[in-house]
Amino acid sequence: MRERAHNFCAGPCTLPLETLEAAKSEFVDYHDTGMSLIEMSHRSKEYDQVHMEALALTRSLFQVPDDFSILFIQGGASLQFGMVPMNLLKPGERGAYVNSGSWAKGAITDAAHYGEIYTAWDGSEDNYRRMPESSEIELEGNTRYLHITSNETIGGIHYPHYPKADVPLIADISSDFMSRPLPWEQFDLVYGGAQKNLGPSGLGVVILRRTLLENNNRNMARYLRYDIHDAKDSLFNTPPVFAIWMMGKTLSWMKQKGGLAAMASAAAEKSNMLYSSIDNSEGFYNSPVDPSCRSQTNVVFRLGSEEQEKNFITEATAAGLYNLKGHRSVGGCRASLYNALPMKSVIALVDFMADFKQQH
Ligand SMILES: Cc1ncc(COP(=O)(O)O)c(C=O)c1O
Repeated sequence: MRERAHNFCAGPCTLPLETLEAAKSEFVDYHDTGMSLIEMSHRSKEYDQVHMEALALTRSLFQVPDDFSILFIQGGASLQFGMVPMNLLKPGERGAYVNSGSWAKGAITDAAHYGEIYTAWDGSEDNYRRMPESSEIELEGNTRYLHITSNETIGGIHYPHYPKADVPLIADISSDFMSRPLPWEQFDLVYGGAQKNLGPSGLGVVILRRTLLENNNRNMARYLRYDIHDAKDSLFNTPPVFAIWMMGKTLSWMKQKGGLAAMASAAAEKSNMLYSSIDNSEGFYNSPVDPSCRSQTNVVFRLGSEEQEKNFITEATAAGLYNLKGHRSVGGCRASLYNALPMKSVIALVDFMADFKQQH
């Protein structure tokens, strides 16, 4: 096999080589059964073990308290934009949203179809350069929950500390899922797509305080109800067995590497190295976001002109550094540094950036 690519994609993205190799060795003949795991019943004892282990590893590694449920739901993070208000908002109740960028806007757009919502803080006035302080978030009457996006994958900002609110706090944590610990006492529900830090795309993981399941809306398709997934241990219907299997392997890898503390310190180390090279480039590269809110997983940076950025991306690709183009909606450059991206990829990028600056 050729050497592993330096893959800075925002998702799907780099997974641990160990996850891929383990899947490869077990894929065709799972544990001497003469069939692949993806050919087996999801009610088989083999799959049941995979499923329960993935749930248990999520709980232990992420230190999820006992009074929270963990749900595996298909449809990625996007389905949760709708499921949150569908399940939680009753007539007369309102959902408050922090508009911190592209993904927050996605959640707001979808929620508006299912209940009354409002924007409690709007980052658009400041070009989405930062996250709000708790004191800036304006909650109005009859607010059922406050929704935030812990890390804006496109804008490259995160919360250095999470807001405190008098209402249940809900967060889309897709792009920093298990890359740093969560203060669970502050949250009631978090969700994210698996395709950044956990495994293949298509799987959504929802972690919610069980009291939130009481008196929810029930008048909808059963698949859309949190209480049904909870009652059935996320086996209400055929789950995405392949994605859950891969996720379990990635979680085992995380455990072996030292768990969330190790992931968090690696995220800090990798992102600090990249931000330092940006900050020390005498303006050749620049970070468009407030330094206090810089994401540790999606590092966004600009060069002097769009032409220069185009050259940078073309030359980086030729040098074996892939997927550094910023999201099409904002342009510029972006390096995603998820858990499985090795330090040597960041070193290769920083070295390339120094060379490119020298030559241009
Ligand atoms: C913060 C955030 N929320 C939501 C999504 C949408 O996730 P999915 O494609 O799993 O629906 C993404 C995808 O990149 C994301 O980064």
